Amino acid sequence: MKELKVSAINKGTVIDHIPAGRGLKVLEILNLPEDSTILVAINVRSGKLGRKDIIKVEGKLLDEEEVNKIALIAPTATVNIIENWEVKEKRKVEIPEEIVGIIECANPNCITHYEEVKPRFKVISKKPLKLRCHYCERTMEEDIVLKHLL
Ligand code: CTP
Ligand code: ZN
Repeated sequence: MKELKVSAINKGTVIDHIPAGRGLKVLEILNLPEDSTILVAINVRSGKLGRKDIIKVEGKLLDEEEVNKIALIAPTATVNIIENWEVKEKRKVEIPEEIVGIIECANPNCITHYEEVKPRFKVISKKPLKLRCHYCERTMEEDIVLKHLL
């Protein structure tokens, strides 16, 4: 039997296989209500990754935008939907071809900071992560992207 470091949940979402050290960042972008029940495991042993973080949120389902944000921070993550103590659905997060909203452009002169337009980026490379602003063509690499999450 597998060792379970964090309790199983009855209903909700388990974000598994988060690269070690990124779990709290994932939690931060989820913007969960203050009364949410959340289980967090940091630096647990994992066959695939060596070490990983896990986040379990009771009673919560993620929307597309949240899953896309997680993909930017934790491209190896798996999102499991739990119902009646069982994994009802499992899917790997995927970085989309285009990112709308979610992050702001790193260029302070970009029109997206002055006009009512949603930031929009083309994904030039997923690994290593590289995006290009649709409006000003500024390119942003992973470390910069992570600093500009909305
Ligand atoms: N899980 C949970 N509560 C449940 C069922 C599962 O918290 N009632 C968690 C497990 O601890 C695991 C994740 O959900 O972190 C996925 O469960 P499962 O698919 O059973 O685990 P694995 O087979 O190890 O998943 P994978 O193949 O994605 O590594
Ligand atoms: Zn821009």
